Amino acid sequence: MSIAERKISVELFYQEKRHRLTYIIVFFAVFFVDVYSQINIPIYLNETKTIEERIEHALSLMSIEEKVAMCHAQSRFSSNGNPELGIPELKMSDGPHGIRMEIKWDSWEQADWTNDSCTAFPALTCLAASFNPDLSFSYGKALGEEARYRGKDVLLGPGVNIYRTPMNGRNFEYMGEDPYLSSRLVVPYIKGIQMNGVAACLKHFALNNQEDKRLTINVEVSDRALHEIYLPAFKTGVQEGKVWSIMGAYNKFRGDYCNQNDLLLNQILKKNWGFDGAVISDWGSVNNTKKAALNGLDIEMGSLTQYKNAYNNFYLAEPFLNMLRSGEIPVEVLDDKVRRILRLHFRTSMNRNRPFGSFSTKEHFAVSQQIAEEGVVLLKNKTNLFPIKKGQYKKILIVGENATKILTVGGGSSELKVKKEITPLKALSNKYGKDVISHTLGYSSDPALCQKASTQDSLISKAVEMAGLADVVIYIGGLNKDKNQDTEAADRLSYDLPFNQNRLIESLLSINKKVGIVLISGNAYAMPWINKASSIIQSWYLGSVAGDALANIISGEVNPSGKLPFSFPVKLEDSGAHAHDESSYPGVNGTVTYKDDILVGYRWFDAKRIKPQFPFGHGLSYTNFGLSNVKTNKKEYGVNDTIKVLFDIKNLGYLLGSEVVQIYVSQESPSLMRPIKELKGFKKVSLSPKESQKICIEIPTKSLAFYDDGKNGWVLEKDKYYVHVAFSSENVIKSIPISIE
Ligand code: BGC
Repeated sequence: MSIAERKISVELFYQEKRHRLTYIIVFFAVFFVDVYSQINIPIYLNETKTIEERIEHALSLMSIEEKVAMCHAQSRFSSNGNPELGIPELKMSDGPHGIRMEIKWDSWEQADWTNDSCTAFPALTCLAASFNPDLSFSYGKALGEEARYRGKDVLLGPGVNIYRTPMNGRNFEYMGEDPYLSSRLVVPYIKGIQMNGVAACLKHFALNNQEDKRLTINVEVSDRALHEIYLPAFKTGVQEGKVWSIMGAYNKFRGDYCNQNDLLLNQILKKNWGFDGAVISDWGSVNNTKKAALNGLDIEMGSLTQYKNAYNNFYLAEPFLNMLRSGEIPVEVLDDKVRRILRLHFRTSMNRNRPFGSFSTKEHFAVSQQIAEEGVVLLKNKTNLFPIKKGQYKKILIVGENATKILTVGGGSSELKVKKEITPLKALSNKYGKDVISHTLGYSSDPALCQKASTQDSLISKAVEMAGLADVVIYIGGLNKDKNQDTEAADRLSYDLPFNQNRLIESLLSINKKVGIVLISGNAYAMPWINKASSIIQSWYLGSVAGDALANIISGEVNPSGKLPFSFPVKLEDSGAHAHDESSYPGVNGTVTYKDDILVGYRWFDAKRIKPQFPFGHGLSYTNFGLSNVKTNKKEYGVNDTIKVLFDIKNLGYLLGSEVVQIYVSQESPSLMRPIKELKGFKKVSLSPKESQKICIEIPTKSLAFYDDGKNGWVLEKDKYYVHVAFSSENVIKSIPISIE
């Protein structure tokens, strides 16, 4: 090595050493700055501390006035944070099918923002009809992203009140009549929302099963029905879904308003289920400070909306403060509420790591469409009128107002301002060609028109005349989101389809042999023309891409796979809630007594051997499926075992399709009356033509227990049981006896 080279090498040696030294200095500097800043961050803001440590610290810094301020609203849709401590406001939004438009701070008027047009997702009845928990996760995730983008911390949904009567105007926002189905679907929805740092708010807790007199009605129901039918979806949402907030219902239960109900909120929800989140009141449902404070409510919303800026007068505002000051209410009660509210903040508004979200994206429209396409139910297809292939007919007549009506508007708090809504008529015209499609109303829901006999007659005559000349007729009617239809705050007035549709459908069926009927609703209805109609599709409120989804099903580009999440009675009196006198529905002297007890939905039809028009779990496909090798893994099970139900399922036809295999279980000789059978498992399987798959559905033995009022708890009896493998609650393919030791 020359001297010059040696010099360079020595130089490089020192240069490297200098670099290392600089690196070490910088490393330690960053480390010390970091440690120093951590030391200087107040504990409640320090993310290296646990949420519980942060809560205790924040609580210790707050005055009683500041604490009380967090327990009530400060605007129509937000509650107070703490400006002094930098705790943000808590921003809430309906829910449950999209992010509601902005309204004014202190009134219900629209705020007229230009950036709040959202994706409308299908109604929760549609999600339930998909029988697909994976889709429920996609639904929640996409909705949570929309909530985040719009700066919301709490999404007011999902709703899991059980479908007890087809008259309930709000059934479209819920997940059907079966506690197991709604329990399985609610968990992924909550998880999808909350992974965005947005709280789901499970509603309406509990027994909000009718809208008629919802603000005052008192519900009387047995403990058994409460625990077996009306609470399971809430319990699963709390314990498995780990929901961060829950909304109390308007109605009373055993004499006390649900938002001020010790049994529901303190005992069952908080003590027995271990709920650690916040109870938020339904809007304007609180009416007593002491009861609300002592019986478990944490945040009061929507009271005194008749007054401007009345927030300090809320029951959990000044009146609460006064009772705390006078010692009438112990301060521990306040601290428990504030802990829960702070926990909600730390999980949402104060979570620095939550994603930013996204809004009205292509992906969200795609999720919405997939849910819609998996939820639509093919009820009947006797002459294979559906699918109607492109090019099959030259003249297709569309009859019905729902072919063109915007159905994301109306319905109450779930109403949406949408970026787009594709109507069925638009989508069908795109699909088959404008020259092939024509449309006539046939009926109108416009109050100015629908009352007049002459208008009705002329709408029907025109439809009949056009139907006589068409190759095929597609009828698109049903209910809508107007008052006394599928909407909040009132129930339906009749089980019949409204606006004279039965007469119209009869007339169409008598003039043209090819009438495919598509009905959009969130509820069952009478079908007096059923024997003349060969082909019927049950659609739901499908949201932004409603028309495209429906057109894909009608044309066969998508094979229907939805299953009814509730039974369709032939007539109203056939259903459990209506088989008794008025005390069972809508209630007398302010009380409704659930005389149907645990026999809700198919449990009633089974027990009374009444044939429904269409049973729970029913839904056809354009292909068909066969089951073979149906068996259980064992014959005898212990309490902690899992029953494995095994079978092969084969797509017997020539089209890709999905089938939902449903497992119902019954007990042979229970010590208390039990339903003939109950859903305990299901699986949606997608199969290519002629493909078959081996499937295993697992059912924990413990889930076969029933609630014994006498013992105040769940009981699993040693007995013989039957595992029914079925395509619907009426279509059992095989029953396998097992025993539990
Ligand atoms: C409804 C709730 C809704 C709230 C806020 C109430 O009338 O019952 O479901 O979240 O209003 O809009």
